[in-house]
Amino acid sequence: MVILLGAHTVGVAHCSFFSERLQNDPSMDANLAARLRNVCANQNTDPTVLLDQGTGFVVDNEFYKQLLLKRGIMHIDQQLAIDRSTSGFVSRFARDGNGFKKGFGNAMVKMGSIGVLVGNVGEVRTNCRVFNPKNKPTVPSPPPKVKASPPSKKTKTKKQKKPKSSGKKKK
Ligand code: HEM
Repeated sequence: MVILLGAHTVGVAHCSFFSERLQNDPSMDANLAARLRNVCANQNTDPTVLLDQGTGFVVDNEFYKQLLLKRGIMHIDQQLAIDRSTSGFVSRFARDGNGFKKGFGNAMVKMGSIGVLVGNVGEVRTNCRVFNPKNKPTVPSPPPKVKASPPSKKTKTKKQKKPKSSGKKKK
């Protein structure tokens, strides 16, 4: 679980998922909390923030380094660095970037063997939290196969003329 949650090295979370942490939560860095209170001020639009406050667009071990600095966004992420059963792994992955990448790859491959639904049996969700609406196609159909052809100069294709009949019928 510690390594799978490392997927939060990229992507965003809506403020509504962590806003309760922004008021006097000692497990969050006070400066970060102050900044996020600003970002999240408009509850109607429910803005998003990067889950990895260090390098939110890069798959790396910065996520764990941020946890050690109390700069995790989600409660569950920050708990990894606090709970005694997981904190050792967080420190290890914060130190060992290559170890994290290797372990993460292995964990994802393992996940892939747990009854993944493929083809028409499953669906690629348009909103990850809910099933797709029933009336819409759930699996994107593959793009049509198009024969590769050299770029055409606008040449008119001549219509084939029908041979003039001589009027005589062939025997
Ligand atoms: C206990 C386990 C987990 C919990 C509670 C959890 C929770 C969340 C939440 C609440 C968000 C923000 C969603 C939003 O605001 O719309 C999120 C985002 C994300 N999660 Fe997790 N997650 C978990 C495990 C995982 C795992 C195992 C992976 C992948 C291996 C993963 C990958 C992601 C990614 C990539 C995002 C960013 C999505 C985006 O940018 O749109 N999460 N997660």
